[in-house]
Amino acid sequence: MLSRRGLLKTFGAFVLAALSTGAYAIGIEPRGRPRVVTHRMTPPGWPQGLKLRLVLVSDIHACDPYMPASRIAEIAHQANGLSGDMILLLGDFLSGMRLGSQVPPEDWGEALRPLSAPLGVHAILGNHDWLDDPQAMETGRPGIVQAVLDRLGVPLYSNRAVRLEKDGHAFWLAGLADQLFPATGLDDLAGTLASVTDDAPVILMAHEPDIFPTVPKRVAVTLSGHTHGGQIRLFGFSPVVPSRYGSRYAYGHIVEDGRHLVVSGGLGTSILPVRLGSPPEITVVELG
Ligand SMILES: [Fe+2]
Repeated sequence: MLSRRGLLKTFGAFVLAALSTGAYAIGIEPRGRPRVVTHRMTPPGWPQGLKLRLVLVSDIHACDPYMPASRIAEIAHQANGLSGDMILLLGDFLSGMRLGSQVPPEDWGEALRPLSAPLGVHAILGNHDWLDDPQAMETGRPGIVQAVLDRLGVPLYSNRAVRLEKDGHAFWLAGLADQLFPATGLDDLAGTLASVTDDAPVILMAHEPDIFPTVPKRVAVTLSGHTHGGQIRLFGFSPVVPSRYGSRYAYGHIVEDGRHLVVSGGLGTSILPVRLGSPPEITVVELG
């Protein structure tokens, strides 16, 4: 039988472990230098000779003191150093935190200003870019984030696609409006793909991965964020994922029926400043 001292020791060790895990999940893991996670793929029908390296920066959630402008500037510097053909900003620039305060938009905007890549920097909006901008929710116009991106000269994609080229090979970059807000979302997948006028491959940016089951095979790869890998992820399982499909699209490279989806673990936190087993990441996608 365990003595009282033994019991107390075991209990003490348990409490210590819980406290140190909590401290790690709040103080260390969410605040570290992002890791770089790379996914390589050749989607069906991908043109021979077209090699693309995409750098995904998702879910910044600018928020003092957890994601201040100084940290966003470091992330921008790191993203620039990853030699991407394009840098794709996958939404949720705004905080979404119940603790802490919004970073002034001009400050996080300036922190992102150095971002640069040969084929440009491109952006979509996330749910928090509506939700945490009360005026945007009221007017149906994404005021804060749109204004910052305009100042930076970063194009925002809301249900449209553009045709780009690398090494003489064409491809389409498409971006969906948010699927959750305002109201029940503004996303129009059919309308977005209607602007694709030739057979070149399509890369689709969509903040929430829940659109994936309806994305046609015509799209080579869908790029999402939003889930933060569940934010708390233990042994490959996330108990809470903001998706109607549970953990199916929580994180990483998912292939269904020959269709490819990459869900970035993202950088910041929402609701609570906690990440455990899901460290902040910049995601690299290599196509070709
Ligand atoms: Fe989101």
